Amino acid sequence: MKKIVDLLAEELAEAFEGAGYDRSLARVTLSNRPDLCEYQCNGAMAGAKAYKKAPVMIANDVAARLKDSVYMEDVQVVNPGFINIRLRPEKLASYLDEMKQDGELGVEKTKTPQMIMVDYGGPNVAKPLHVGHLRSAIIGESVKRIARKMGHKVLGDIHLGDWGYQMGLIITELKERKPELPYFDEAFEGEYPQEAPFTIGELEEIYPAASARAKEDEVYREAALNATYLLQNGHKGYMAVWRHIMNVSVADLKKNYRNLNVEFDLWKGEADAQELIPDMIERLKKEGYAHVDEGALVIDVQKESDTKEIPPCMIQKSDGASLYGTTDLATLIQRVRDYQPDRIVYVVDKRQELHFVQVFRAAKKTGIVPEETTLQFLGFGTMNGKDGKPFKTREGGVMRLENLIGEIEDEMYQKITDNRTVEADEARSTAKIVGLSAIKYGDLSNQASKDYVFDVDRFTSFEGNTGPYILYTIVRIKSILNKYTAEGASLSGLTVNGAAGESEKALMLEAVKYNEVMETAYEELAPHKICAYIYDLANSFNRFYHETKILTEENEETKKGYLALLVLTKEILESCIDVLGFEAPERM
Ligand code: ARG
Repeated sequence: MKKIVDLLAEELAEAFEGAGYDRSLARVTLSNRPDLCEYQCNGAMAGAKAYKKAPVMIANDVAARLKDSVYMEDVQVVNPGFINIRLRPEKLASYLDEMKQDGELGVEKTKTPQMIMVDYGGPNVAKPLHVGHLRSAIIGESVKRIARKMGHKVLGDIHLGDWGYQMGLIITELKERKPELPYFDEAFEGEYPQEAPFTIGELEEIYPAASARAKEDEVYREAALNATYLLQNGHKGYMAVWRHIMNVSVADLKKNYRNLNVEFDLWKGEADAQELIPDMIERLKKEGYAHVDEGALVIDVQKESDTKEIPPCMIQKSDGASLYGTTDLATLIQRVRDYQPDRIVYVVDKRQELHFVQVFRAAKKTGIVPEETTLQFLGFGTMNGKDGKPFKTREGGVMRLENLIGEIEDEMYQKITDNRTVEADEARSTAKIVGLSAIKYGDLSNQASKDYVFDVDRFTSFEGNTGPYILYTIVRIKSILNKYTAEGASLSGLTVNGAAGESEKALMLEAVKYNEVMETAYEELAPHKICAYIYDLANSFNRFYHETKILTEENEETKKGYLALLVLTKEILESCIDVLGFEAPERM
């Protein structure tokens, strides 16, 4: 469906043109002064210079032509030349009815679907997931869903960190503990065991132990570096250990991400790109893109227009080892080859921005990625504790994701059982659903690039700008609708009231914005805009609810109109929380 702002702009364009002005002045925005009007057009001010006329005169000329407007009930000119608009409630109502009929609630899918890849999650295998990975998963999942909602083809890739030094550390520690395993017997010729020589619990204990020891023990560190080198050069036994590590970790990661309602289409990792590196380096050297600088192989990426220094992208160390950037470039070769993306969005900690500037420039310069492909870095800020420092456990350690989720769920469980008597089982499953909304909404309601404070008390509150408040609103609507249908009445075929009361119209005005908000959230990759919108929508609904006797309304037609508006409000809220990556329970 066409957006309301566009429908209004079309009418205004006719009016501007009819009065002898340029159509392009007819841009319409939401009102900055909701006390005065609902929408506004500032085109008269913009045109004043070109037409050498006072803006108010232009505005008056335009307004005079809108007396019989289809959508505008009231057009007021206000100094110095604002055109203030109020909508006809019956038009608003029919627009909402059309939204209800439309399978997409009025969102117009793109006519030029793109192939978009979202690189997010990015956990490092064998290291426990920690809260730093939480933001990437939450934001990336939402960006993916928003792009899909707009009709694009989207692939989410977890891009595992599965090829680094941590693997060498684990191999070294395992060899210390269980030297008898066949993986460490260079003469071993048989088949390696199917069964992994460790559980996830052991693996998670092995890695920090090894990492700590390597920091103190130089010989041990050398051994781990050597094991990493041997692994990366195809050592048979180490490759077998690596596969065990992968299987055990990936199974655990899948479970964790499922709990977060995060789903990846591709489970590729750094390791998958390795086979492409030798040819890539060969070509970049041969074609003169890469040159040796202080022993390392680098690609210059500085541009004339840069105001600060952008260091070259390093692709090989002097000892021949490849680096983070090498892997990202090789991954791009693979992505272009396998999926021909129009666009790739990287949802990564903003402290990695320089790395991506270097990689993107190197990829474009060397033709690894075609010029027309968009490479986009969506950097996010840090999740801090109440002390303003990166979020930690009470003991000061790195908070594991599972524990964080557990803590929130317990808090939610407490609140739910305090509020009313409820079966423990039901309270548990509700706490899980609502807890997830607290975490995700708490994160997504902030602009991604900003740091934010993870505040358990605030995020789990049923009041204010929180996930639980949004869910509470949905549950409230569900309960009204259920009461209505419980008496045998049907919700189908209801239409929104044309003559609306004040708070009813305010709710209607919020509801019609849905398609515009979704479009903007996509264009700006900004889930926080959806959060801001549903907070407004939920507030408008709750105000209407408190001021209106819905089910006891005596006029049957009016009552049905209310219910129609409730059905639509619920559907919009549900669609929005779906792209944010959480859902509502039946009861709370
Ligand atoms: N594994 C990396 C980290 O933990 C994030 C990966 C981001 N994606 C990428 N293509 N480099 O920092």
